Amino acid sequence: MSEQTTLDKVPAPRPASGEKLLEVTGLQKYFPINGGFIFQRRVGDVRAVDGVDFHINAGESLGMVGESGCGKSTTGRLVTRLLEPTGGKVSYAGKDITHSSRKELAPIRSEIQMIFQDPYASLNPRQTVGSIIAGPMEINGINPTGGRERRVRELLEIVGLNPEHYNRFPHEFSGGQRQRIGVARALALDPKLIVADEPVSALDVSIQAQVVNLLQKVQQELGIAFLFIAHDLAIVRHFSQRIAVMYLGKIVEIGDRESIYGGPRHPYTHALLSSSPEADPDDDGRERIRLAGDVPSPINPPSGCRFRTRCWKAQDKCATEEPPLVRLGGNAEGHLTACHFPEEPTIEAREEDIVLDPALAAIEEAADETP
Ligand SMILES: Nc1ncnc2c1ncn2[C@@H]1O[C@H](COP(=O)(O)OP(=O)(O)OP(=O)(O)O)[C@@H](O)[C@H]1O
Ligand code: SF4
Ligand SMILES: [Mg+2]
Repeated sequence: MSEQTTLDKVPAPRPASGEKLLEVTGLQKYFPINGGFIFQRRVGDVRAVDGVDFHINAGESLGMVGESGCGKSTTGRLVTRLLEPTGGKVSYAGKDITHSSRKELAPIRSEIQMIFQDPYASLNPRQTVGSIIAGPMEINGINPTGGRERRVRELLEIVGLNPEHYNRFPHEFSGGQRQRIGVARALALDPKLIVADEPVSALDVSIQAQVVNLLQKVQQELGIAFLFIAHDLAIVRHFSQRIAVMYLGKIVEIGDRESIYGGPRHPYTHALLSSSPEADPDDDGRERIRLAGDVPSPINPPSGCRFRTRCWKAQDKCATEEPPLVRLGGNAEGHLTACHFPEEPTIEAREEDIVLDPALAAIEEAADETP
């Protein structure tokens, strides 16, 4: 398989215009929890996404990171309108699509595409690669010049696969190649926005960089905007111009890459950066915070600041007042942080490690005391 991608065969690139393509305000998704023996009634909600604001400019990549269960996939599915929001607003190219019907969404369905985490599960094993990639064209009744087959062959070449493998089935490809098929399918309709939900997490580490490079080429050369969802900050570091850090259904910090990696202010961002060894492989003098312990339940999140049950800086105010997501003094424009007692904008080493999990700290203390 050739690692070379030929992007020159694709229609004219759309340069990043800097205009807002997607805007999300106060976005919420509550999943109802039903209980009761005979009559099922709503006994609570999983507050998966609970008041999220962000935008993505045309041609730009926004990275979204956070631990498992913090609401990243739900946010991605709300943006692509695979899910109906409980509250808030989603605007695409200036149009409010928050509650648009299937029919109203039809014209923009082709412009917003999704790439999923698991290349094994997201491709139909009984379909040939050709029909998988042509699927979106068929559904949307699109007949490119030269025919669908020619376009599929072009797309296979773009993603670095052999166009002659048009008639093969997904099981004949490796994990990385299958994810390339997923990328080709997402490109089939010439999208303006791709939501990539952990597109490389299921792949071998050795393959991850190849797929990230492919996505980066796609983003830069075709001018496609990305919402790139990832667990840790290392993967999005080189891919996304801006980064949003999520915790328990909320964005706790957002800003330009340089600002987030070089001068993080939210304790949680500090913890994520210090727990991600590859976030900055050249820097040995980074602080050490060991992020452990469980994220509280999104059914009953902590009052005030949601991070307070794991935060080493928490004070009384943190339990009573929710910190707003605002620009702090000294921060670059567009760098917003939700914290009452923010950290210094540095990633210098600390005198002592901060251990976030009391149980882990107790075990380590006991181990230290054992002769
Ligand atoms: N359909 C659903 N019904 C009920 N709860 C759901 C549903 N989908 C997600 N959730 C819950 O919403 C919360 C956020 O889930 P989500 O999948 O968005 O998190 P995530 O950040 O993508 O996590 P991961 O990193 O594990 O993929 C979790 O507590 C999850 O259990
Ligand atoms: S608001 Fe308080 S608890 Fe929340 S991150 Fe800031 S210091 Fe920690
Ligand atoms: Mg997810």
